[in-house]
Amino acid sequence: MKAIGVEPGGSGPRVLDVPRPEPSAGEALVRTLRVGVDGTDHEVIGGGHGGPPPGEELLVLGHEAVGVVEEAPDTGFEPGDLVAPTVRRPPPAGQNEYFRRGEPEMAPPEATVERGIDGAHGFMSEYFTSPAASLVAVPDGLARWGFLVEPVSVAEKALELARASRSSFDWQPETALVLGNGSLGLLAVAMLAGEFDVSCLDRKDRPHPAIDIVERLGGAYLDARETPVAAVPDHHEPADLVFEATGHAKHAFESIEALAPNGVAALLGVPGPWRFEVDGGRLHQRLVLSNRALVGSVNSGPRHFRRAVDRIESFPDWFLESYVSRVVDVDSFPAAFETNDQMIKTAVEFDTP
Ligand code: NAP
Ligand code: BGC
Ligand code: ZN
Repeated sequence: MKAIGVEPGGSGPRVLDVPRPEPSAGEALVRTLRVGVDGTDHEVIGGGHGGPPPGEELLVLGHEAVGVVEEAPDTGFEPGDLVAPTVRRPPPAGQNEYFRRGEPEMAPPEATVERGIDGAHGFMSEYFTSPAASLVAVPDGLARWGFLVEPVSVAEKALELARASRSSFDWQPETALVLGNGSLGLLAVAMLAGEFDVSCLDRKDRPHPAIDIVERLGGAYLDARETPVAAVPDHHEPADLVFEATGHAKHAFESIEALAPNGVAALLGVPGPWRFEVDGGRLHQRLVLSNRALVGSVNSGPRHFRRAVDRIESFPDWFLESYVSRVVDVDSFPAAFETNDQMIKTAVEFDTP
């Protein structure tokens, strides 16, 4: 069968011919429909994050998938069911406390592998297998958009952690600042727009479809070249909630300046090493004297996937149609990895239901 794999840091993704996987007991064989591409895939392709399974040179890409169950005896799933797979699996050393507790999203990197990202092959192939417990049911009406369940679930989990950090007092947030209007940031804007006065900061020139989407959702677009993150409270308004999705390491620290008292910033970007100066004393003081919080968040588990399904069903059609810029078939797969400035979200389509 066809799969799309990469040698990280090498010449880019290519089509591989690999054997069709055989499901073991408790596993499902899934026929892949669509697999999305995000900033993490580009970091993996460039060699900056993750890598192939131990002893292998190539990694089959893909961690945002939707597919149809082909066979899944004694698992509770039936042939024809639509499913989205979660990303994390136990490491080569085997099960550990995080997986036993059903909280793989809280495992540190050495206690997990991530399919399509780090240490395990992903879902960008005509078929994949997965333990049934790592599959979440997707309604039939979401066949086209089910590959967005994983990225929305990641944002659901980050918002859950951020809210949990503010749950000991009467937190009544009104303003949210999303850093980045790329593939993850725009989903966060769509999720927060009904509840918050949302602004979204990036460094794109108008006209741009991602800016149009922010504004049509009722949000304000802030250009980081005119309004740096730390200046947002002076030029716009302080944020009760910051959702960082740029991967720009300085934004972790500048977020502290952008927060309102008692606010929280959820950090999701995955930068590489970068040394720079910050006024640590000032930032420490601002965190303490106004009860601000920073919380890092990665990955998501089945309950976040289920919440993501409901969330996607609540998104207006116009948002989904304009957010997904390009869906290509396997033979045209390079187009899904192009970093064209006007592109927001891309996916590879292996099959239709
Ligand atoms: P993306 O599509 O590349 O979006 C990132 C956006 O941030 C781009 O529009 C980028 O603009 C903008 N940006 C970067 N640096 C900036 C700066 N200094 N000022 C203003 N805007 C800036 O990537 P993504 O898929 O949304 O992912 C975003 C980050 O989240 C990545 O680091 C990814 O690894 C991470 N991520 C983490 C999780 C998690 O579980 N924690 C899940 C998914 C993704 P340019 O195009 O001009 O660079
Ligand atoms: C994926 C997460 C993963 C994270 C770190 C994100 O793009 O959506 O599932 O945990 O990257 O590798
Ligand atoms: Zn991702």
